[in-house]
Amino acid sequence: MIKENYTDDRKLFLITVMYKVKDFYPAGHDWYWVKFKPGGDARLEGKVDACIDCHVGVAGNDYVFTGNIK
Ligand code: HEC
Repeated sequence: MIKENYTDDRKLFLITVMYKVKDFYPAGHDWYWVKFKPGGDARLEGKVDACIDCHVGVAGNDYVFTGNIK
């Protein structure tokens, strides 16, 4: 899953990605987290606590905020 993050004046400033890697981190539903700058540099990746600490609030929906994939 990919989210484009824009500033208030509609400039792309981050691309955040979550994808599943089998057996990567079962306690976190095997999500692998990445934060990219628009140019493609990965600034954070893997088991990123900052991402998980917020998304854990929707752990019951497989750590996904939008939609309903249950
Ligand atoms: C402060 C809370 C918070 C943090 C920290 C956070 N997110 Fe999110 N994330 C959200 C919310 C809320 C949404 C739902 C869409 C929206 O409101 O923009 C979301 C949506 C997403 C989505 C789209 C799938 C979904 O859950 O709807 C991805 C992918 C994503 N985030 C990745 C990341 C990554 C990668 C990080 C860490 C670099 C991260 N997020 C950190 C709150 C957070």
